[in-house]
Amino acid sequence: MRCDYFERDVCRSCSWLPLSYDDQLDDKLAAARALLPEPREGWLAPVRSPRERFRNKAKVSVGGTVDAPLLGIPSLAGPVGAVTDLAACPLHVEPIEAALGTLRSFVTRATLVPYDVATRRGELKHLLVTANPRGELMVRFVLRSREAETRIRKHLPDLLAELPGLRVVSLNLLPEHAALTEGAQEIVLVGDTLTMPVDDLDLHLRPRSFFQTNTGVAAALYRRAAAWVGELAPHSLWDLYCGVGGFALSAARAVPGLDVLGVEISDEAIASARRSAADLGLDNARFEVGDATTVDGSGTRRGEVGRGEADTTGGAAGRTTSGAPAGDADSSGPDVAPTPDVVVVNPPRRGIGPDLAAWLERGRAEAVLYSSCNPTTLARDLAAMPSLRLERAQLLDMFPNTPHSEVLTLLRRRER
Ligand SMILES: C[S@@+](CC[C@H](N)C(=O)[O-])C[C@H]1O[C@@H](n2cnc3c(N)ncnc32)[C@H](O)[C@@H]1O
Repeated sequence: MRCDYFERDVCRSCSWLPLSYDDQLDDKLAAARALLPEPREGWLAPVRSPRERFRNKAKVSVGGTVDAPLLGIPSLAGPVGAVTDLAACPLHVEPIEAALGTLRSFVTRATLVPYDVATRRGELKHLLVTANPRGELMVRFVLRSREAETRIRKHLPDLLAELPGLRVVSLNLLPEHAALTEGAQEIVLVGDTLTMPVDDLDLHLRPRSFFQTNTGVAAALYRRAAAWVGELAPHSLWDLYCGVGGFALSAARAVPGLDVLGVEISDEAIASARRSAADLGLDNARFEVGDATTVDGSGTRRGEVGRGEADTTGGAAGRTTSGAPAGDADSSGPDVAPTPDVVVVNPPRRGIGPDLAAWLERGRAEAVLYSSCNPTTLARDLAAMPSLRLERAQLLDMFPNTPHSEVLTLLRRRER
């Protein structure tokens, strides 16, 4: 792959660009193997990705002037706040590149003054653009205040005419002068969700909900995880850090009768997941807003969910693999919340941390699927769970041209 920005030394994000693709995969796999114990059944062949046109999301800093906006990244060299235009970054899928051209004109037409980091003046900080494989788009304007709202609303019909695939438009308010991509407040102007087809699953994405950046590799990830869950044939599964529900919904589809609970801290992501479940007619998948690392079984949402299911339905969510109701298993100690048969965890780069690792270690889930974008924290977390043995692992190349990768692991509880 050739990249003009890399060759001109104005962007170094793809630091592994000079390596051949096979060398990239070999090096990533070697790095992961050096950190992790050898899986009992070994490593599956890595999942490859196209080297370009795989990113479904652009997070673009806006600089320059109203008449000549720059859409890119903070400049590596040059004055504070300067922006290097990267609108033709070859990682983005084509509809994003086309949309950035249209949005550049829109910035001028609606007089959206780019925010200047040095002087703290201006309004438009970032453009966040997501595209699905059908070319449909979500566009979010990250603004310092609502100053430009009227002008954006006024010119919106033109934007919708120029971008017929535009499904969601929103304003995100980031009043703080902070190195953040987005703020907490969202004002939705058009639509509510972008549908992201992942294999035969349509996932709804609302603004402010995380989705994997590489749709093709995400599909392979959910497929693989659902296949492993199918082999385990559990009654109940929890998907912690579930986002918009990719793992949970794939598993609920793959294993009829499986009782699925997704837990995620973002209410927008949970609203997205619930809508997808409803559209798919999956009444065996529930989603709750919550902190996945909260492991105290007394009075926490997670403990309540497990106990409630066991008491009121006698259903799979409250059952252990031995069939005993989880809620009355006090032999595990009063501080141990009921656990399902299988737990999926897919945390941010920091990993699951000591509390959740200790809970999984002490718990009664027979298997854990841990999907990680950071083999270093994955290795640390695995070391904190010696009762769970690494059975299988697979590297999925979610982030080509960089040292980063996704690693999916299957952990099984050792014989007690
Ligand atoms: C790597 S993403 C995975 C999302 C999802 N599994 C997927 O495949 O798209 C991590 C997710 O964890 C969520 N998150 C971060 N901290 C959390 C916490 N303490 N408890 C629950 N969810 C959390 C984020 O909002 C994000 O959606």
